[in-house]
Amino acid sequence: MLIVSGTSRAENRKDLACQCCRPRVPLRLTTQRSRLALDSALWQEYSQPCRAFFEVDLRLVQRLNRLKKAWLNVLQHPADRLCQMAYCWRYFGLLHHAMRIAIDEPRRPDPLSAIRRIVGFETLLLEAVGEVGTAACAVASRNPVFLLGQLAVDPTMPTPRHVPLLMPSGQEDLYYHYRQLQISGTPAQRVLVSPAVDLPRRADSFIPIDRFTRLVSERADPYWKTRARLLARRILAPLLDARHEATATESGSICILDLGAGTGQLLAKAWTYLARMKGALPQASFHFVDANPPAFGRSFGLGRVRAGVTHVEWTTADYRALVDDDQWLRKSGPFGWVFACRVLDNASNFMIDPIEPDNSDGLSLNCLPHRCLAPHSQPDGIRCLMVSTVRRQARGGTIYPQFSLRDYFRGVLILQSRSLDVARDEAWHLPVRRFNPAALITPSGRSLLAQLMKVSGAVIIEDVDAQPEHLRQHRAQFGLAGTAAVFCTGDGFRTEANHFVVTSPGWVGGLRGERLW
Ligand SMILES: C[S@@+](CC[C@H](N)C(=O)[O-])C[C@H]1O[C@@H](n2cnc3c(N)ncnc32)[C@H](O)[C@@H]1O
Repeated sequence: MLIVSGTSRAENRKDLACQCCRPRVPLRLTTQRSRLALDSALWQEYSQPCRAFFEVDLRLVQRLNRLKKAWLNVLQHPADRLCQMAYCWRYFGLLHHAMRIAIDEPRRPDPLSAIRRIVGFETLLLEAVGEVGTAACAVASRNPVFLLGQLAVDPTMPTPRHVPLLMPSGQEDLYYHYRQLQISGTPAQRVLVSPAVDLPRRADSFIPIDRFTRLVSERADPYWKTRARLLARRILAPLLDARHEATATESGSICILDLGAGTGQLLAKAWTYLARMKGALPQASFHFVDANPPAFGRSFGLGRVRAGVTHVEWTTADYRALVDDDQWLRKSGPFGWVFACRVLDNASNFMIDPIEPDNSDGLSLNCLPHRCLAPHSQPDGIRCLMVSTVRRQARGGTIYPQFSLRDYFRGVLILQSRSLDVARDEAWHLPVRRFNPAALITPSGRSLLAQLMKVSGAVIIEDVDAQPEHLRQHRAQFGLAGTAAVFCTGDGFRTEANHFVVTSPGWVGGLRGERLW
């Protein structure tokens, strides 16, 4: 078990923030015990694989040199929007022209190595010594894709969604946005961490993310308090009322199972909010399940207020395998409530697909950064950027309408297919994330919800990708007799993720929302 003190976290953050200012291209961040190591390369070394493709073309060599100058400026003045703009303009200009020249002049040597270096620029591999998993990360103040999103919106609202996909240089694997960790105060320095898109490798990629998080951060999720409060008000309070009515014994203790619990803070905090709302709560025991082992010394958000929690247990396991195990369910249950919060979307699918823009988008080539960020196009040009992080439903999933990143996603597709064909067509490509129905199915092919409802009063789901139709499809496939489900909506709360409750028909009365069945 890894023990990290608050002091070494602060040291790690300080050390990393300091290294993040250096004029070297970061390549790999490795955790080893309580230490972090950052591998980087000189600009010359990093750009070496581009040489064969660039060398004979003065235009490209010049563009590369200008990008270097803009990069050095942004490292010196990380909060200067003019420097950021020039940097993004140079970066996306180089990317655009490299792909165009690769198509127009097919005899040039090795275009893919050059494109790989540009697409993977300022994207690091994240690894933990002795572990198999890899993840990716980027330093927010240095990554041009992230900075492009920052340019277009209020800079006080940073979000890893500005970089929906990362592909570290030298890799053909993609990584999807997950979380940002703050490593320094003013100017704020953040690291964006991304797990693997490839499903067989995804669970392992949470290992280096977890190690890194423990080494630099006291708080895993910056939004956990807001989410916990919402859970308590929207779902737990009405469920508790229904439980009281049904059992008429306010003192009966309740056992709560939390699948994919992370630090356990979400459930613990929701429980303490519930205690504040309701005054008295039944005695409770918490059973946390996560693929990663718990961190030593965590208080699970309860602090000194134990709120009637008598017992806390941890199981390190895959949640689907555990729910498949009838013996384990019988032994550990019955449970009053089961939480599956932000765990199902860990199995979501990601694809870069052609997207038909909405008419209202008013899309034109002017949204491409190499056009609209040119200094002579300012101040109007910058407003043409389309890098929204507002979710939109498209092609059976969710997209962010980030059309200004067209060349970046094209570059990724070129590297994945090892062919320049995609850059020849006119389509706009964007990443689409889709709910994976397998997240609700156990390894032996049974329904996760049916299994859980055998031993619990209610299953509470919070998920960014699950939509009402996914739950209805699941019910059509598995029956789920004797249960009811509510999609919690229309109750005045605005949420990033969807909430669902599957419970018995007698318990849904107090829940506001759409009854799914
Ligand atoms: C986004 S965190 C959610 C933590 C907490 N439930 C919350 O909502 O704040 C997802 C957690 O699910 C865990 N996880 C991912 N896949 C899992 C699996 N197959 N089985 C168990 N835990 C898993 C990860 O280790 C991570 O701690």
